[in-house]
Amino acid sequence: MVSVKKTQKVVVLGTGGTIAGTAANAFEQVVYTAAQLGVDQLTAAVPGLDAVLGGRQLVVEQVAQLDSKDMDHATWQRLTHRCAHWLAQEDVGALVITHGTDTLEETAWFLQSVLQPCKPLVMVCAMRPASSSEADGPQNLRDALLVSAQPLATGVCVVCAGVIHSARFVQKVHPYRLDAFSSGDAGPLGWMQSGQVQWSTVYDRSALQMPALAKQVMSSDARLWPVVEVVFSHAGAGRRVVDALVQAGVSGLVVAGSGNGTVHHAVEAALKEAEQAGVRVRLSTRCQEGQMVGKSRLWPDMEGLSPLKARISLMLELLVESGV
Ligand code: SIN
Repeated sequence: MVSVKKTQKVVVLGTGGTIAGTAANAFEQVVYTAAQLGVDQLTAAVPGLDAVLGGRQLVVEQVAQLDSKDMDHATWQRLTHRCAHWLAQEDVGALVITHGTDTLEETAWFLQSVLQPCKPLVMVCAMRPASSSEADGPQNLRDALLVSAQPLATGVCVVCAGVIHSARFVQKVHPYRLDAFSSGDAGPLGWMQSGQVQWSTVYDRSALQMPALAKQVMSSDARLWPVVEVVFSHAGAGRRVVDALVQAGVSGLVVAGSGNGTVHHAVEAALKEAEQAGVRVRLSTRCQEGQMVGKSRLWPDMEGLSPLKARISLMLELLVESGV
């Protein structure tokens, strides 16, 4: 049972994903089509929904219906609009977003960077389609609703397989198992224990704010957002990819370096030329766990962000500067 003001609303926004996917039969867990069921059907399948809501009013809205491999900036912009709309309502206590697992960590970091919400914004997903006899979506959504009622929850987090991750550190690390996400060395924010939320750290709610960045994201044309791409440094790498991207007019490049941010000499030479041509370059590591250490780097890093999240942060940095 949760304890919240009875007048509060919790808003569940649907965007698609496996959590809303269906397969040909109840035993199929690999071959299925994502983004088939509406968010109203997903909430209706949550076990013990009334008790989980604890008197809160449930509002559902379908913002998108896609396989998250196809997530794009226009959808991020629409989602930002809807989140900002609901977060600004005094009687809305929290948002929950159903999302595919494949790019969930990117959407989570984008929304955290842009909205910096002080209310809970809980992202939730599933690894098995909703049609599966052993679907994990209903339990995950139940957990997400419970987390969303927590007075201590704030900002964007991700709930999957009973574990609560921060937007900053979460990464999908497994293509199939139910517990597909990890927060690496940082560890999870918390976990579900016998239907209760157990926090590993206690954090404070700050005052409600709407950063200038959110206004810019919502009012600009998403097609004009600066183009930032990720390039990998790897054995046998050459300058072709960097040269092609510069030729195509990118504004920024994040290089996913090997190990502690080392970069193949051919890629390094191409990136240095790109930088001289006005392209902003940032360094990250392609290592799945940990962060780069030490200061002697070719280019600045993005405070330990993964290459995909560094891409988002650099794009937002350039967007602010561009004034678009
Ligand atoms: C998706 O990311 O939309 C499909 C895969 C998943 O949700 O696990």
